Amino acid sequence: MDNIAVLGMQWGDEGKARAINWLAKDYDVVCRFGAGGNAGHTLYYKGQKIVRHLIPSADFSIKSQKAFLGAGMVINLESLLKEVLETEAMFPGSAKRIIVDPDAFVILPKHTEEDKVNSKSFGSTGQGITPCYVDKIGRRGTKIKDLLRDNSDITNALSAAGVVFAHSLEMYEELMRSRIIFEGAQSILLDYNFGDYPFVTSGECGIGGIYNAGLAFVAPKKVIGVFKPYMTKVDGGVGSFITEMPEDDAKVIQEIGQEVGATTGRTRRVGYLDLMALEYAIQKGGVNSLFITKMDILDGTKSVKVCNTYGDGVRMVSGSQLRDAKPGYLDLPGWKSAKDSLQTKSFINYVEIFTKCQVDYISAGVNPEDVIEKKKRRLKPSVDLFQTVSDY
Ligand code: IMP
Repeated sequence: MDNIAVLGMQWGDEGKARAINWLAKDYDVVCRFGAGGNAGHTLYYKGQKIVRHLIPSADFSIKSQKAFLGAGMVINLESLLKEVLETEAMFPGSAKRIIVDPDAFVILPKHTEEDKVNSKSFGSTGQGITPCYVDKIGRRGTKIKDLLRDNSDITNALSAAGVVFAHSLEMYEELMRSRIIFEGAQSILLDYNFGDYPFVTSGECGIGGIYNAGLAFVAPKKVIGVFKPYMTKVDGGVGSFITEMPEDDAKVIQEIGQEVGATTGRTRRVGYLDLMALEYAIQKGGVNSLFITKMDILDGTKSVKVCNTYGDGVRMVSGSQLRDAKPGYLDLPGWKSAKDSLQTKSFINYVEIFTKCQVDYISAGVNPEDVIEKKKRRLKPSVDLFQTVSDY
C-alpha cells in the first residue's frame, strides 16, 4: 500500500485530523513533518473531543500505531510533555509509540514572547513559530539533540514519560517497512511560498516539507487534499478574504460548525467555497484525491454558493490573488442530509469537474461511520471528469 499525505486546501481547520484519524486504521505510522503548536488538530474518539497541537493524529487505540514528529517541526517541549501525559492517560502505553526526531528545533520562551509582540499584524497564533524558524534559518537555533546532549530536565522528563528520540535515519528500516500517513499542518493557502504573503505561516505546508524533513525515502504517492464546502479563516481580521459571506450567514455556520480556533479560541471568519483557490491548492500541493469534510454543516440548505470565476480567462496563479481577485459565484443545489450521497451528487460532481480531481471521501459527521468513500457511494456519475464546466 502506498504512503499518503494529507494536506489542507484552504486556510487550515479543514478537518485534516478527523480525516487522518479515520484513514489511520490502514496505516502503521502517522507523521508530522512541519510546523508546531500553532496547529490545532481536533479529532473524536468514542464521541469524545481530543485536541492535539503537536502529536500527530494517530489512532492510539490501535495498539501497534506509532506517531513520528519529524525534523521539520518546531516544538515547544513543555507543551509536548503535557500532551504526551494527556495522551498516555487516555491511551495507556501510547507514550512509547511517540517518536521525536532530535533534529527538530525547540521553541524557547523568547520565541513565544517575541511572537506575541511582533506578529499581531499577521494574525499569528502567538506560539513562537516564526521567531523559531527565523533562528533556525539564521543558524542560531536550538535543536532537540542539543538539549539531549546537555541532559536537560525537559528531555529527561519526556524520556521518562516514554517518548523515544530517534533520527529518521535510525528509524530508516522501520519506516521503510511501514505504511505511513504524512499529516500536513495548516494549508497550502497559508504556505509562505503559495499563500497571500506575508499573511502566511512560516512552516512548510506542502509535500516539500516531507522531503525537507529527510523523509524522501518514504515519500507519498497519494496526496489527499482536505477541504470544507465553505471556507474559514482565523487571522484576527487582518488578512483578506475575498469570498467572505455576510455576517448573519457566517454566524449560522460558526455556530453549527463550531468554527472556533482550536489553538486561539478565536471565532473563525466564514466565506463561500472558492473553487479557483481550490484548483490552485490542488496544483501547488500535487494533490490527486480530495476529502471533503463538514458537509453536514450545510444540511438543510436549498442552495450552496461557490466562487467559480475571477473574471473572464483569469486563473489563480499566485497567492496574492487571494487579496484582489473579483470573485463571481454560482448557486449549486443544496441538500437536506449530506449522509445521502444522491442529494449531494450535483455539488460533488461540479467540484470534481471544476478541479479535475476526484472527491474520494465525504465526511458528513464526526463519527467514523459518517465518512462515505467514493467506492461505496450510491453515486453513478451522470457526468465524467472530461465534461467541461460549461456543459454542466
Ligand atoms: P502563525 O503560524 O502562528 O505565525 O500564524 C500565521 C497565520 O497562520 C495566522 O493567520 C494564523 O491564524 C494562521 N494559522 C496558523 N496555524 C493555523 C492553523 O492551524 N489553522 C488555521 N490558521 C492557522
